[in-house]
Amino acid sequence: MSVKIYDTPEVQNFLKTVAGLDQAGGSDRGKQIIHRILSDLYRTIDDFDISADEYWAAVSMLNALGQVSQFGLLSPGLGFDHYMDMRMDAADLEAQRTGGTPRTIEGPLYVAGAPETEGFARMDDDPDTAGDTMWLHGQVRDTAGNPIAGAKVEIWHCNSLGRYSFFDQSQTPYNLRRTIIADNDGRYSALSVIPSGYGVPEGAPTDQILKMLGRHGERPAHIHYFVSAPGQQHLTTQINLAGDKYTYDDFAFATREELVVEGKRLEQHAEAKKHGVDGPVTEVVFDIELSPTDADELQERHKRARALESESADSQLAATATV
Ligand SMILES: [Fe+2]
Repeated sequence: MSVKIYDTPEVQNFLKTVAGLDQAGGSDRGKQIIHRILSDLYRTIDDFDISADEYWAAVSMLNALGQVSQFGLLSPGLGFDHYMDMRMDAADLEAQRTGGTPRTIEGPLYVAGAPETEGFARMDDDPDTAGDTMWLHGQVRDTAGNPIAGAKVEIWHCNSLGRYSFFDQSQTPYNLRRTIIADNDGRYSALSVIPSGYGVPEGAPTDQILKMLGRHGERPAHIHYFVSAPGQQHLTTQINLAGDKYTYDDFAFATREELVVEGKRLEQHAEAKKHGVDGPVTEVVFDIELSPTDADELQERHKRARALESESADSQLAATATV
């Protein structure tokens, strides 16, 4: 069967009816967007001669994704998160908001309400002997190079098994999650454990879709950041550790050259020693530059469902506990 009906008046009128374009109520913007999406999908069905079997397999896949709350995991895998970043980068450029550490994707595994400390945080509440001790530090500056005292540095990362606290309930709540208020010199430091890379759960809907595309679902070892300060643009970013097999082959497309950081293995570190670590540490240095802005909305992170922040429980189940 190879029929072409998309361009017929019957289908075009039907699309308008389905999208509510002939109805007075509802949201005009919503109607326009749904009309466009439905039009593109209907045309895809026509162009690829999609069979009923294939169509209903796709519906089942969407149901399966929803059942395990994996839309937030598939989203970066299909490049939507990075595409939104590209659009925000382009908007910054157009408004001449240049400079500053590059943004990159947030991912679905942030949890609000992590303990807040001044200057330094010990992040590893749970023992993790399989991972190297990490001494993570840096300075927050503005685009003129001035330190930003009191900048809020929120850090979260997974353990040496690639699992995040909260989503992995075997960990202490807020293990490897902290909010650090930068000191008078804009500096922050943390003792933690070097995170491992991780992949989407084997066999799960996201994995099935990526495999259908001939792709893998692996991420390199990385550390997430939210950084903010009054009068500065809020920064959502992460660093990818150099030397990981997937540093430049991240299924979530978060890697940016400026955000690849090499961990330096040291037999001892004077600052870490002050905090009770007298052995080898891997030093990870990440200085952050924020861009100035007067716009209030740019000083805050954008809205999305986040665990313990949003009423929506979606993110609390994000990607299931296995990532
Ligand atoms: Fe992550």
